[in-house]
Amino acid sequence: MTNSVTVSAASNIALVKYWGKRDTAANDPATASLSIGLEDLRTTTTIGFSDAGDDQVISPMNEASTARLIRFLDRVRETWNIDRNFSIETSNNFPTGSGLASSASGFAALALGINQLLGLELSGMELSRLARRGSGSAARSVYGGFVEVIPSDDAWANRILPADEWPLSVIVAITSEASKQTGSTEAMQISADTSPFYKQWLATHQHDMTTAKAAIEARDFAALAAVSEHNCLKMHATIMTGQPSVLYWLPATVAVMHQVLALREAGIPAFFTIDAGSQVKVICQAGDADRVNQSISAVDGVIRTLVTRVGGEPLISVA
Ligand code: PMV
Repeated sequence: MTNSVTVSAASNIALVKYWGKRDTAANDPATASLSIGLEDLRTTTTIGFSDAGDDQVISPMNEASTARLIRFLDRVRETWNIDRNFSIETSNNFPTGSGLASSASGFAALALGINQLLGLELSGMELSRLARRGSGSAARSVYGGFVEVIPSDDAWANRILPADEWPLSVIVAITSEASKQTGSTEAMQISADTSPFYKQWLATHQHDMTTAKAAIEARDFAALAAVSEHNCLKMHATIMTGQPSVLYWLPATVAVMHQVLALREAGIPAFFTIDAGSQVKVICQAGDADRVNQSISAVDGVIRTLVTRVGGEPLISVA
């Protein structure tokens, strides 16, 4: 019998964002999304059974995130009729809860670990659906490479291109190490209920998905850059115009965006995207990574950068 399973799952960033839920209880997204896996931003989770009277969790998560994790485990127990508690030890090699999608890698690692520990033999679709119950973006982190989610009554992700078929680099500009003030679920609800732009966000989303998928298919970097920045700015415009307004950007966030524009002016292809936080991810072609990293690291307010590439295949080991 398997005693414990260790999973390393990678974070991902969406180039076409998921923002808004079709069904909050089921955590089902209102929009499609398209992401890239981040090879070196990983959650490592070891999961086994616990004989203590409750689940034992060791993690960098705050109380609310731990409660969300326990709810996820309750759902697993209910779905597969399991009468056991779990012991879970989890850590991230990047800042937790600050817009680097630690919930994506975290819940993907958990879904993959539970599947292995309980011998469930879930398909990719079922694993993705399970991870989505914990966090919408986690549906995508059960795979590496270029991944999409198509919305449905029980949405799941598919890989559209393996990472090595288009070698791109990602420079993550850390502009704050603090946890974000407003979580994505709460901010999505505010946007959906109060932003005058939310309807347009939904109405124009499929067009962005189609454009981004065509750009990936054609390996057209400029086209992917244009649609990704547009989609990111549209999401943030929707977030900012909710009531109350949520402003995830810091001065350094905007400074990095300007630096990316300056790089493009200087003939270096690069583009930015920003999730629900202040960090900026800059995507470029693998051969330009050093130059782009130097340029982004020099921006005022950038604490440090992480340099990685598109990848993020999960790794699983069994003890
Ligand atoms: O996975 P969640 O529920 O934290 O939502 C993620 C939302 C964004 O990161 C802003 C966009 C996305 O598609 O990942």
